[in-house]
Amino acid sequence: MNNLSPAELVLVKKACEITRDALNYCETLIKPGISTKELDKLIEKYIIDSGALPACKGYEGYPATLCTSVNEVIVHGIPSESVILKEGDIVSVDLVVNYKGYHGDATRTFPVGKISAEKQRLIDVTRECFFEGIKNLKVGHRLGELSHAIQAHAEKNGYSVVRELVGHGIGKSMHEPPNVPNFGSVTSGPIVTDNAVLAIEPMINMGRKEVWLLEDGWGVITRDGLASAHYENTVHVTKDGVEIWTL
Ligand code: MF3
Ligand code: CO
Repeated sequence: MNNLSPAELVLVKKACEITRDALNYCETLIKPGISTKELDKLIEKYIIDSGALPACKGYEGYPATLCTSVNEVIVHGIPSESVILKEGDIVSVDLVVNYKGYHGDATRTFPVGKISAEKQRLIDVTRECFFEGIKNLKVGHRLGELSHAIQAHAEKNGYSVVRELVGHGIGKSMHEPPNVPNFGSVTSGPIVTDNAVLAIEPMINMGRKEVWLLEDGWGVITRDGLASAHYENTVHVTKDGVEIWTL
């Protein structure tokens, strides 16, 4: 697990604050009729105007600033002019910001206009999974305590946890060790060390856990076609507790 210097942590925290502010701005833009491509353009401009860079753009060839994943799309939906948000959709907006070489990563699933009670509950439970997880994230304990708490909360609510995609360490790189699964036993994973920065990101399906990869090689969708939600924050873990830096 990473152990950045105080000066480096200042930069990660700044990256996280820009990520948070950009997602809050994104929330104000989301309404029926806007395309995910328009969202992407506006958020890219916001990040550059903030003195930062969109970290996903160009990462392993990814073509955009945001991942915009609508309804049954779990993650890595590529923004497109032909994807127009409509009343009743949910859209997961995932953003990684690079500030002077350090990264912040967060995701929110937003409702578009008025959505069904079922979809709202999925969004709410996915957010709760994150908070149940970090209640169980403690220096000197197994990371599996967090993973297990997330899985238990999702399954207790009748949902399933995606297995193929996990959270991660973050700092100088977008993805660093360790993997942070949203499932597993309390005895799994490494011991959490002091001063680690982690991106915790439950991806929760309304139906079954199985996924498909879209033909664009990026988008991951539910096999059963039911909706999925995603909630992510970058956190800093110390002996004093957990600070959420993208909230
Ligand atoms: N926020 C995503 C993650 O947590 C970023 C992946 S999109 C990519 O892994 F294009 F950068 F790969
Ligand atoms: Co992430």
